[in-house]
Amino acid sequence: MTLEDKNQNNIISTELVNSYNIDYVFSDKPINRFKTKPILEDRSKLLSELRNEIENINNCELKSNSKKLVFSDGDYQSQIMIIGEGPGQKEDEIGKPFVGDAGMLLNKMLKAINIEREKVYITNVVNYRPPNNRKPEPAEVTRYSEFLRKHISIIDPKILILMGSTAMESLFGSRIKITKERGNWKDIIIKNKTYLSMITFHPAYLLRQPEQKKYSWSDLKKIKKKIDELNINL
Ligand code: URA
Repeated sequence: MTLEDKNQNNIISTELVNSYNIDYVFSDKPINRFKTKPILEDRSKLLSELRNEIENINNCELKSNSKKLVFSDGDYQSQIMIIGEGPGQKEDEIGKPFVGDAGMLLNKMLKAINIEREKVYITNVVNYRPPNNRKPEPAEVTRYSEFLRKHISIIDPKILILMGSTAMESLFGSRIKITKERGNWKDIIIKNKTYLSMITFHPAYLLRQPEQKKYSWSDLKKIKKKIDELNINL
């Protein structure tokens, strides 16, 4: 290529560039090629699809013995997601998680670390009340943990709070013990994304064993500290 050709090429490319609206073509904002958070309309659409999926579950003793699906409560844009075990009588009547005595205690626990219940997202491992408030069977926990994993990846929280051994087992299996694992931050990988989780005692257990509340308080303080460190706005 001669010098003349090169100059000619420069002229052509300058003309070409000038013929575009440069502000429109170029931007100095970095391009995020790793968007993992679904946009909000997507999130509510995905949530209603998940809800439909659970509503249409077949051959489920929990569903056939309960009155209502108990899907979730709270802010679906929250960065904090709380997972309990399963609905009780009141939850089954109203169709919302944690509205009975355990729910009242949960509200107080959150308030103790300056969190309003409406600012977090709450769900359960199983979404229908187990007959006579029995614990969900291991096979039921396994079946519903597929829904729970989907639920977590849709909400995409910064912190997951697992309340009680059923929530712990649905995500970590039954080999571990809550007395040993509570109060520690544990990573959980769902659909290639790592979530930070804290296992803590279930409020219903604390109502039966109030002397355990000191451990729960220590876990809550760790959660509050992490919320501040991660600059989570609630
Ligand atoms: N206990 C739970 O685990 N979930 C509820 O929704 C109510 C009580």
